[in-house]
Amino acid sequence: MELYEACLKTARDLARINAGEQVLVLADTAIDWEMIKLLSSAARILGAQSSIMIYETRDDVNIEPPKPVAEAMKSSDVVISLPLMYILHTTAYNDALKAGARILELTGTTPDMMVRLIGRTDYPVMCKLGDRLTELTKKAREVLIKSENGTNIKFENDANRPVFHNDGILNEKGIYKPLGGQISWAPIEDSIEGVIVADTFIWPPSEIGVLRSPVRITIREGRITKIEGGVEARIFESWLRNLNDEKMYYLAHASWGFHPKAKLSGIPLEDERIYACVEFGFGSQSLKFRGKIGKAKSHTDLGIFNPEVYFDGVPITHAGRFVHEDLLEYDRKIKG
Ligand SMILES: [Fe+2]
Repeated sequence: MELYEACLKTARDLARINAGEQVLVLADTAIDWEMIKLLSSAARILGAQSSIMIYETRDDVNIEPPKPVAEAMKSSDVVISLPLMYILHTTAYNDALKAGARILELTGTTPDMMVRLIGRTDYPVMCKLGDRLTELTKKAREVLIKSENGTNIKFENDANRPVFHNDGILNEKGIYKPLGGQISWAPIEDSIEGVIVADTFIWPPSEIGVLRSPVRITIREGRITKIEGGVEARIFESWLRNLNDEKMYYLAHASWGFHPKAKLSGIPLEDERIYACVEFGFGSQSLKFRGKIGKAKSHTDLGIFNPEVYFDGVPITHAGRFVHEDLLEYDRKIKG
């Protein structure tokens, strides 16, 4: 019943489902069927009318879902979106948001993740840390990120671009929010210079996931110019090349992970939330970021383990902990 409790917490505290609402629990065939049913039952217990839609798992992310799915998304008040091959940057997703649906993005969630990352998590404490980290990120103009494996990248932030705290709490119409424990923003593209060494995960392509050896990515003016490393670097390079889309080489967002219970699992929703870690996305960029890239053929994310991050020369993280004075209180509550 712990899984049911976690599903009920998701429906009530995150999706904020109300009596009388039309709820769609959406998944592809990669998602656990029992968990899908429990999420739907939770919506029903809260007085909503709940439907389930499942479609065949696609080969890649961001492929438009089948037409009946797109129609159902548009006519729902709430969508709990679980497909492993997420559809975040599709027309169907954007049309549902424009129609007023609020979407809880839980791509690839397994029953274990549902219990650990939602059910057993002190969600309010995590979100308070996230609120403070969002404020610091909004104020930061120059960002420097280094890591033991060789990451050394700097960029500037635009004060007029938003910083999103993805707390997963759907408190208004027409928005999507992913699971809590993440903050995302789009740095000024031309200012991004240096080397990113991905050493936790790269996904997609689906052939990679958890990295066995680091992948070294050189960036000039926001664009990937070189990819070095072992087998995974070659797979990543050819996946990007085969998409045949110049926009896939551009850095679309930077993100913080700060979920107390996230571990390296091979599911990006969890991997990108590892505590005091940084993630970068390339390719499609949601319009809400107000960046310069827009829609590309796909989107990929990759992570850096235990980076040292400096905002305007001031240390924010060190060795997997948040060390800035504004964050110490909640870092200690979370990590002891
Ligand atoms: Fe991303």
